[in-house]
Amino acid sequence: MVWTVERPMHYDQRQVIICLGMLSDAPVTLISISMCEMIFATKTSVIELLQRKQSAIFSPHTLFRSGKYCRFIKKAVAQEAMRGNSTSTFNLVRCKLTLFYDYWQMNEILEALLPRDMIIPSAFETVGHIAHLNLRDEHLPYKKLIAKVVLDKNKPKIQTVVNKIDAIHNDYRTMQLEVLAGNHSLVTMVVENGLRFHVDLAAVYWNSRLASERQRLLNGFTHNDVLCDVFAGVGPIALSAAKIVKHVYANDLNPCAVQYMEKNSVLNKLERHIEIFNMDGRRFIDAMYASRKAQSITQVVMNLPNDAVEYLDAFRGICKDKPKDKEYALPMIHVYGFSKARDPEFDFHERIRIALQEVAVNVEMRRVRQVAPGKWMLCASFRLPISVAYAHTMSRMQAHQVKSF
Ligand SMILES: C[S@@+](CC[C@H](N)C(=O)[O-])C[C@H]1O[C@@H](n2cnc3c(N)ncnc32)[C@H](O)[C@@H]1O
Repeated sequence: MVWTVERPMHYDQRQVIICLGMLSDAPVTLISISMCEMIFATKTSVIELLQRKQSAIFSPHTLFRSGKYCRFIKKAVAQEAMRGNSTSTFNLVRCKLTLFYDYWQMNEILEALLPRDMIIPSAFETVGHIAHLNLRDEHLPYKKLIAKVVLDKNKPKIQTVVNKIDAIHNDYRTMQLEVLAGNHSLVTMVVENGLRFHVDLAAVYWNSRLASERQRLLNGFTHNDVLCDVFAGVGPIALSAAKIVKHVYANDLNPCAVQYMEKNSVLNKLERHIEIFNMDGRRFIDAMYASRKAQSITQVVMNLPNDAVEYLDAFRGICKDKPKDKEYALPMIHVYGFSKARDPEFDFHERIRIALQEVAVNVEMRRVRQVAPGKWMLCASFRLPISVAYAHTMSRMQAHQVKSF
């Protein structure tokens, strides 16, 4: 008997099939039976069922997967097949099973289509409707094919598949992306922390992988805090914090990121809790501390891991014109950085010391994630030292201003 089954997932629940043999268009042996309770059965219940009933049902899936349970079933069915029809408790039926594209999962299709021994590019990051692949060089000749499979197998959530063309080099930390499949719009919406963020991946920075780190940071803020987010992007930290803290001052150098941050503040009805600026980070720190806002700032976030530490010198002397007897509550600074050193914590601590020209004490140092082999992203949190805030030496920007004057 030859059956052609287009969508085995849609089997009639009582029409039971056990498949033997490899999946292909070649004939495979099936045992046709009557109930489907075996699909979720354990090894013990497989034995019981084989003994108790003349029939059993298995998802074809079970027989093509590896794992103890699947191996057991294959063996049990093979033994039955060897015994022949007369003694067998099973009724063996020879049939042709054709499983179409819809049936197979993404990895299985890629495994079948790509050359043997090639690592299957099965993982991708999702930003709204966009699947973001990070293809290796060996994948590039197959990039469109890979993207098509990713798109087909992840619709409707995924509408666009992109690949990062190059490492991030530019100031705005935006990615060079190539659209490989689906619609070409890189404007999408991401939900994080119960907030909605409009993002244009071609023009602004966004990294969903940092969601849990952002959450960790937010957990440390309270209603009494006033936050300064120096490198805020489209506002994932600043806007989420605006729900918690008293007030937020958020800044980014990228005018497009600032536009999106403003849009997102309105979208989430947080515009009254945040002031948004578009300037260089050092200038922003200077402007904040030159104003009356300085008194209230309790938290500063500096999330530009490539360079943020270099901006710490902006804090030198920020309070030097303020009366020392009425000392300001100096802010906690949370600065991010990368390190490839053997001792990343020590290395990052040293770079902080050099930028501040002082040793920061009680620094809480965390490894956020490994971004490449041997390269860590770190976050250092410490209170701005009094000696730095009241220092009489100038920051680099002040020195630059004096020079150009
Ligand atoms: C790594 S992203 C972080 C954005 C945001 N905190 C987040 O988690 O999505 C760094 C941001 O710093 C901005 N940036 C780069 N150089 C800057 C500078 N000199 N001053 C202010 N912002 C800057 C970039 O435009 C980018 O949006």
